[in-house]
Amino acid sequence: SDYDLGSYANFMHKEIAEQPESVRRALLGRLDDRFGTARLGGLNFDPRDLRRIRRVKFFGCGSAYYAGQLGANLVEEWARLPADAEPASELRYRNPVVEEDTLYVAISQSGETADTLAAVQELQRKGGKVIGAVNTVGSAIARECGSGVFLHAGPEVSVASTKAYTNMTVVFAMLALSLGRVRDLSVSDGSRIVAALDSLPQLISEVLDGEDAISEVAKEHSGAERMFFIGRVRGWPVAREGAQKLKEISYVHAEAYQAGELKHGPLALIDPAMPSVVIVPDDELLSKNISTIEQIKSRGGPVIALTNAELPDGLADSVIRVPRSEPEVDPILFTIPLQVFAYHLAHHLGRDIDKPRNLAKSVTVE
Ligand code: G6P
Repeated sequence: SDYDLGSYANFMHKEIAEQPESVRRALLGRLDDRFGTARLGGLNFDPRDLRRIRRVKFFGCGSAYYAGQLGANLVEEWARLPADAEPASELRYRNPVVEEDTLYVAISQSGETADTLAAVQELQRKGGKVIGAVNTVGSAIARECGSGVFLHAGPEVSVASTKAYTNMTVVFAMLALSLGRVRDLSVSDGSRIVAALDSLPQLISEVLDGEDAISEVAKEHSGAERMFFIGRVRGWPVAREGAQKLKEISYVHAEAYQAGELKHGPLALIDPAMPSVVIVPDDELLSKNISTIEQIKSRGGPVIALTNAELPDGLADSVIRVPRSEPEVDPILFTIPLQVFAYHLAHHLGRDIDKPRNLAKSVTVE
């Protein structure tokens, strides 16, 4: 059963390994390759309802919030609608401006997180249209929202979210695609995206086949007491979730930073004891990310590059390779090796991976 460890040492490892299958479930019956779009039945939106949306606001807590940021980026890229993500704990208390033509997306694995539920209720009180992106059927947030998209990740036991996080991002890709296809996204771009999403399970399997190599890199850096995760634009939510995974299970101080902001403060922290994981997708910002690596190297900082590009020899101290996908889909795929990296680093340090200190799987009180 889902609650059976089988041959795995802990649930986090098992749940990482399940991702080709759980992503397949999230996609099942929802992709339309003929029209290059996605159909999310639980939304009950027809094209006119979709066109009425002028803005999308994602909210949730922890990894769910980071997944929302990735989703917001995809909505902006494909639908050209303003979109952003916010922690539910902020949204519920800051008296947000609630607009009728905004689609609010509540994100939660458990469906029981107190801050997320309270944000849903506050938005609804002000007339906001809220849908859920929830894993647990029948949970409080799913019921409160009434409509939405289930994640179909299956039960997640490990405190550190992996397969639920990934399915959130996959569901947001489909939401962004369907918002894009009732606007200016062409059928051919839509089909290109559908094909990329369809091949994700296979590409995730390829990442997992490289687990031993990632584990080696994690082991090499397991003496570090602090680490940066650096990304820009598409790489930024990847860096944030990568840092989150590492800090929660290994207790290494991990901080995510936008690449371009390094020179405005954090460069002062770079030294041989502060490795940086740099997210380097092979997209139009490749040369920018290469110069970020050079800036870190020239201050004596070790660099682990996470990339699907051919980097100049010797540029980075360690390289974690990611298979190629479509550039917009890279952030979904790039997060998987960082889960594996965090897992093995924590494992090497002998941490209690499924039950990190001071944390709970589901935070149902404030
Ligand atoms: C806790 C968990 C995180 C999770 C967050 C939100 O902090 O440790 O892994 O991302 O809650 O949980 P939810 O169930 O709402 O996605």
